[in-house]
Amino acid sequence: MLSPLGLVFYDKRALGLEPLNRSEADSSSPWWRSAVMYQIYPRSFADGDLDGIGDLDGIRSRLGYVAQLGVDAIWLSPIYRSPMADFGYDVSDHTAVDSIFGDLRSFDRLLSEAHRQGLRVLLDWVPNHTSSQHPWFLDSRSSLSSPKREWYIWRDGHGDEPPNNWRSAFGGPAWTRDEATSQWFLHLFLREQPDLNWGNAEVVAAMHDVLRFWLDRGVDGFRADVVHLIGRDQLLPNQPEQRAHLDIVGSHDHPRTHVLLRGIRSVLEEYGGDRVMVGEVTLERPELLAPYYGLDDELHMVFNFGLMHVPWSAEAFGRVLDDAERALPEPGHWPCWVLSNHDQPRHRSRFSGSESRARAAALLLLSLRGTPCLYAGEELGLLDAAIPAASRVDPGGRDGSRAPIPWEATAGHGWPARPWLPLPPDPERWNAETEAADPDSTLALYKRLLALRRMAPALRLGSFQRLGSPPDTLLYERSWGADVRRVAVSFSDQLVMEVSAADGWRIEVATTSGREGLLWDGALAPSEAVILSRS
Ligand code: GLC
Repeated sequence: MLSPLGLVFYDKRALGLEPLNRSEADSSSPWWRSAVMYQIYPRSFADGDLDGIGDLDGIRSRLGYVAQLGVDAIWLSPIYRSPMADFGYDVSDHTAVDSIFGDLRSFDRLLSEAHRQGLRVLLDWVPNHTSSQHPWFLDSRSSLSSPKREWYIWRDGHGDEPPNNWRSAFGGPAWTRDEATSQWFLHLFLREQPDLNWGNAEVVAAMHDVLRFWLDRGVDGFRADVVHLIGRDQLLPNQPEQRAHLDIVGSHDHPRTHVLLRGIRSVLEEYGGDRVMVGEVTLERPELLAPYYGLDDELHMVFNFGLMHVPWSAEAFGRVLDDAERALPEPGHWPCWVLSNHDQPRHRSRFSGSESRARAAALLLLSLRGTPCLYAGEELGLLDAAIPAASRVDPGGRDGSRAPIPWEATAGHGWPARPWLPLPPDPERWNAETEAADPDSTLALYKRLLALRRMAPALRLGSFQRLGSPPDTLLYERSWGADVRRVAVSFSDQLVMEVSAADGWRIEVATTSGREGLLWDGALAPSEAVILSRS
C-alpha cells in the first residue's frame, strides 16, 4: 500500500475536467499513474503571434490535436521571463511569462482551455539556478553585505584559481570570478545560470512560494529540472582526480536533497494531494533514482532515461527494463519512461533514422509499466533537423531535436512566419495534416496505442513480467486481474519465427500494416512490434 499521503484520488468532476473513459481500476490510484504525459517545447510547437517563435496562444490553438491524440497531461518547458541564454532554463522572473510566449492572461486562457479538454498542465520548475539577470542575483552580486549574498554560492578562489575543480555541464570551470567583490560564484551550467544556495532558509521559502504562485493559478504539477542538485555538502569538496574532467550533474547525490524534497512535497500536499512533481534526476542507474521517491514523501515520479542511452538491441533494452523492475519495485516506485526530449537527439534519429524501429520503440514505450512521457513530434515520427552552422543557437548543441513541428503539408507547414529554427527533414511528408489522413502513419499508430492504453487496465496499471523469447526479440506480459496483454518486439533486421507459441493470441496493435485483428502466427517482421490479447 502507498502511505496515506500517496492515496490521492482523481476527482474529475470536482476539477471540471471532462470525464475520461477509465475503469474502476483507476479510482484507487493517483491520476498520474494511469496518465500519458506529452512534453511541449513552447518555442517550437505553434506560433500564435506570427513572429516565428511558438507561444502560449499557439499551443492553445493546437490543444484539440493534443487531446485527440489521447494523452492526459502536457508539460511545458519553461515559459517564464528569461534572457534565453539556455532558452528559458535561465529564469529572471519566476512569476511572469516571457513576452515571447505571452503573458499571465494567455497562460490562464491556456490552462482553462486545457482543463476544459481534459488535459492536465505541468510547468517546468527550475530550482537549481536562476538567470544572472534575476533581481535576486543582481542584488546578491552587488556587495559582500547584500542581504541576498547568501542566496547564491560565493567563495574565495585560490589566487587566480577557482574555489574547487568542478566543471560546468556546458564546458569550462563551474565558477566565474565577479569583479564587484573578487569572489567567485558557482554555476553548474552556463555562467548566466548561477546556482541558488538551498542551504539558505530564505531561498527555500522563496522557491516554495514560486510553487504556490502557480499552484494557486491551478496548475496540476511540475517537472523539476535537475532537482537532485539542490542539496549540497557546504564544503563543496573537489571531484576526485579521476572524475575531475566530468561535471557533477551526472553523479551528485547528497542526502540533504532528500530533506529539501520532503519540504517541496509538503507544499504540493497543501493543495489536496493530486498535484504531481516529476523529477529530472540524471543519475545513471535506476537504483540511484529509487531514493528520490522517498517513502512516498518526495518526488511522485523520477524520469527513467535508460531507454535514451541504449542502442537498438534487444539485449540493451531488456537490461534497462529488468534493471527498472528490480530497482523501482511496487508499491512505492512508479517509473516514468522517456524515449525523446529536448536535450537528446530524437529516438528515430538515434535508431539510424529507421521509421520501423521508431514505431516499434513507441509501441514498447506505451506498453511499459509506468507513466510514459512523449516529446511533441515523436508521434509524427520526426527526425532531428539538420542545422547549418550559421543557424545554431543552443550552447549545448541540442537544436536538432528542438526544431518546429510541421503541421501542414504546404509551404510554411503551419508556421506563418519563418520559424526560429529550420524544420525537420521532409516536412511535406512528415507533418500532422498528411499523417492524420493516413491510417498507416506513425501518428495513426500512436493514436491506436494511446486508445488501447486508455481502454486496457493491464497496460495502464498492470504488473510487468518478462517472458523468454528468441535472440533479438523481447516478449513481456502485462496483467491486471483478468485483463492480460502480451507485447512482442523484434530488434532484428530479419523475419523471426516462433517468438512464442501461436496459441490463441490475437494482434490488437501492430507497427506494420495489415496485421491488426488477425490471430498471431508467432512471427515478427523486421523491427516489428505487436500488442496481443487472448482471442
Ligand atoms: C535540464 C534541462 C536542460 C537545461 C539544464 C539546465 O537538464 O533539461 O535543457 O539546459 O537542465 O537548466
